[in-house]
Amino acid sequence: MKLAWRHAASMLAAVMLAGCTGPLNFMHGVGPDARDTAWFGWLVSGIFCLAAVAVWALLIVIVRRRRGSFASHEPLGRHDGRAWIVVGGVLLPVAVFGTLYVLMFDILNDAPHHALQADDQPEIRIVGQQWWFDAHYLGESPVMDVHVPTEIHIPTGRPVEIELQTRDVIHSFWVPKLHGKIDLVPGMPNRVFLRADEPGRYAGQCSEFCGLQHAHMRFAVIAQPPDDYAAWLAHQRSGAESNLTDATAAHGSEVFQAAACPLCHTVRGTPARGSIGPDLTHVGSRQRIAGGMLDNNASTLAAWIVNAQGLKPGAQMPSLREALTPQELQALVAYLQSLQ
Ligand code: CUA
Repeated sequence: MKLAWRHAASMLAAVMLAGCTGPLNFMHGVGPDARDTAWFGWLVSGIFCLAAVAVWALLIVIVRRRRGSFASHEPLGRHDGRAWIVVGGVLLPVAVFGTLYVLMFDILNDAPHHALQADDQPEIRIVGQQWWFDAHYLGESPVMDVHVPTEIHIPTGRPVEIELQTRDVIHSFWVPKLHGKIDLVPGMPNRVFLRADEPGRYAGQCSEFCGLQHAHMRFAVIAQPPDDYAAWLAHQRSGAESNLTDATAAHGSEVFQAAACPLCHTVRGTPARGSIGPDLTHVGSRQRIAGGMLDNNASTLAAWIVNAQGLKPGAQMPSLREALTPQELQALVAYLQSLQ
């Protein structure tokens, strides 16, 4: 029996602690804003655990102290137990919730987001749309601008100013380990400073219901040491460097340009200049595709091209099952993978 209790207790603990791990766990921040939120989260959890323990302890004491029957006791007086109600039911909750309320506003007030100034330019403009995020890295001149979908690189150790916009409905930008949620509101750009103190890949998720594929509107913020970040950005600014000496990839490049792809996608350095779908100039170097929904490999790329509507119904990417022969599909995938 004792063993059964121990099993039950360890299973209960495992279930409760499952919420404390995982990529979207906000209880371990790696930037100043996320650390404030995490600290507040631990404080609230601690207070609630203490309250739960106190209430259960009181219940146990009352149950164990029970003596005799109702009939053998004096009836309760009008004012019996009033101190418990005044202190435990009014004063204590008012003091605790009042303190938490003030602390919460203090943390909100500290978060460095600010209204748009007419003349200053952010470092990165992030545009949300159904259902993916596009990071627009602004250069000194428009030819240096690059668009990177779903994987947002930032340098570590300094705040990066980011503007948040939406192309359609309201979305919400949330990287739990770095920052609280910021809404992307039509016609009202927001600014935030995102700062990561340690290199890493931090999972993000749209956190405002925005349509059928809201749950599949994911992204990652990849924090890199400043030198690595500068090298990455310089590489992104270069055009496509596809290895077209490979015959399959070269054929794939022709398939890409002849199919409907260039109407929606850009591959810089080629005639493809579409802007509805993600920029594919360096698609081969990304870890995930389809708004962070799928790993990036030959099978997922092929599946996405022929069956996007089956995988992510409602997305703007059509299923090109009828448009391509198996050889063309294979060549197209080889071409996309070669875009490093
Ligand atoms: Cu975008 Cu939910």
